[in-house]
Amino acid sequence: MQTYTLRRRSGEGLALTREHDAIALPRKGSIAWAAFDRAAYAEADLARAAALWLTRAKQEMFSLALFTELTSQLHLLGAPLDWSGAFARMIADEVRHTDLCMRMCEALGRPSEPTIEPEHLHLLHPTAPRGHVRSTVVAAFCIGETVSGRMFRRAHRAADVPLARDVVAAILADETFHGELGWELGALLMRADGDAFEREREALAAELPKLFAHYAHLCCAAAGPSWARSEPEVDPGPNFGTLSDAGYARAFFDGMEEDVVPGLAAIGLPEAEAAWSALVDDLERRPRPR
Ligand SMILES: [Fe+2]
Ligand SMILES: [Fe+2]
Repeated sequence: MQTYTLRRRSGEGLALTREHDAIALPRKGSIAWAAFDRAAYAEADLARAAALWLTRAKQEMFSLALFTELTSQLHLLGAPLDWSGAFARMIADEVRHTDLCMRMCEALGRPSEPTIEPEHLHLLHPTAPRGHVRSTVVAAFCIGETVSGRMFRRAHRAADVPLARDVVAAILADETFHGELGWELGALLMRADGDAFEREREALAAELPKLFAHYAHLCCAAAGPSWARSEPEVDPGPNFGTLSDAGYARAFFDGMEEDVVPGLAAIGLPEAEAAWSALVDDLERRPRPR
């Protein structure tokens, strides 16, 4: 287990900290950290919001580790330089998101150090490099970033604490780009390119049920869409840019139905449709969370 801190204690004034801070600034707009008055909110609301922002910090840290790893794989494939440029930006974006989430915890009065299990950092599969990169792009971008964009869009609508709106807006702008880029990369990688292609495509198609179930779990979709769409999207109280479990699940179901499943079918994975209906049927049969 490793613990990550926002900055080293002696970090102020170091060149590396200055460089990091420049990367961590939102690409557009600014965040009014100083205007946030923690004393205006109840302790219980602050604690609840901080727990959710800490979970986000870990997820962003995972994205950062994954994109960094994926970038080195692109070199094995001889990907054009503009892929490296786009990935360099995405790595910077995930540094920013992790930083923003940890700062939210700090602003909420609960500075936290996310703990990461190193063995959880690797999502890549030990198959041929191209199949490897392809399945990771499909999982992390076509599904993960697309659903995450949906989730942050809803969280932005829900946020009524001004600081949280600023932070969510900064993350949302980046995540939207990651989702769009993911579909471009996915479509490029799904062009038949040699003898191994069909075998690798089938292996990826066979993994879709597991991938969908994995993201359902990450997005709190413990039951089906009829549950998610009948519950309030946010918890009561001031909103710090978070959704209720049903709200997260709803962002997942909408994103999967409207973007991910048709998108996967369009780039050459028609098996996505059957995998999705099977998961929805299964989730609809589960007891609704209270
Ligand atoms: Fe992110
Ligand atoms: Fe992202």
